[in-house]
Amino acid sequence: MTSTFGRNIRITVFGEAQGECIGITCDGLPAGMPVDMQAMKAAIAKRKAYGDDSTETKPEDIPHIISGMTGGATNGAPLTIIFENKKPSGESPLIFRPSHADYTAYTKLGGYNDHRAGGHFSGRLTAVIAALGSVLREALKATGVHIGTHVSQCGDVRDDDMPETDVLDIMEKLTAVENKAFAVFDDEKGEEMRELIDAAAEEGDTVGGVLETAVIGLPVGVGSPFFDSLEGVLAHLMFAVPGVKGVEFGMGFGFGYLNGSEANDQWVNEDGAVRTKSNMSGGINGGISNGMPVIFRTAFRPAPTVHTKQQTVDPVTHEEKELELKAHLDPAIFHRARIIVDSMTAIAVFDLMLDMKRDIWKGAF
Ligand SMILES: Cc1cc2nc3c(=O)[nH]c(=O)nc-3n(C[C@H](O)[C@H](O)[C@H](O)COP(=O)(O)O)c2cc1C
Repeated sequence: MTSTFGRNIRITVFGEAQGECIGITCDGLPAGMPVDMQAMKAAIAKRKAYGDDSTETKPEDIPHIISGMTGGATNGAPLTIIFENKKPSGESPLIFRPSHADYTAYTKLGGYNDHRAGGHFSGRLTAVIAALGSVLREALKATGVHIGTHVSQCGDVRDDDMPETDVLDIMEKLTAVENKAFAVFDDEKGEEMRELIDAAAEEGDTVGGVLETAVIGLPVGVGSPFFDSLEGVLAHLMFAVPGVKGVEFGMGFGFGYLNGSEANDQWVNEDGAVRTKSNMSGGINGGISNGMPVIFRTAFRPAPTVHTKQQTVDPVTHEEKELELKAHLDPAIFHRARIIVDSMTAIAVFDLMLDMKRDIWKGAF
């Protein structure tokens, strides 16, 4: 089993939900990248659970940088960020919670895994992704690349779509949702989504949702054909987020309804710049960014911990039995995952952009 990603940068995620700490170490970062602790804390705060209105930062949400930073900037050594864990309260017997990783991890690792609260497989580990992501997002911003995500769908309620081609319009919309606790373009739609979430929570249930992300300002040429395509690397990282079960770029599965003549993005010359009239390809051709906004949607399953009665099997005897979970219910995880999706996007784009000429990075480090 490995928990490492990357080619130009190499990231390892470590720790378990109820172990000593969780952390991330990132090797290969250029020296001199600013590390803005305020931006990092703000990013981590965006992971707050649904209905958590607390203003105080919990000790387990405080990032500690233990290597790789000198005087507020990366120093070329691996950047390592850790978070202490809250001490577990009480015992945590082994159970195979439906649709969690309990059974698969136990079987793969021969029972040696730390199963407490999902162990290494827990959504808790995404805190470290948000921390590193904030550093990479800031560096990308300095090169003119902006990343942002909104909640696109929950149940049958849909927010306005991300504009396809108008970069200024996208920027305005992303700026408007940046600091919203529930990141929708249309707050009325957000209210309808919250009603769905609250209704599910009352029944001890959870709901799924879809996020939509845009990357703007990306130069032409990011990504490779075949294995390191921009789509491939982004999808690889999106599927590293616990709870993600689908990713589509541009028109995505909608292409199944179209003819080629309807589905092509026609080239145009806009004041000397080569652009496309529509953006059904989601800003990517042949695995390589084409200069248009990169747009993709990520589907999150409903959180598997529900308080309704379920069926499972005993880990030892495999006897079928009824299960009623009492653990904390998070009725919706997708909206708190938008910062994780933004961070994973930053990791993918940053890693691929390091392949490009140094002048692309003008002044970022
Ligand atoms: C930020 C975040 C928080 C999560 N919190 C919970 C949670 O409180 N309860 C839960 O059942 N699942 C939660 N999950 C999802 C599970 O970790 C995930 O569904 C499970 O590990 C199985 O992985 P899979 O859905 O990718 O197959 C969370 C995911 C993320 C990204």
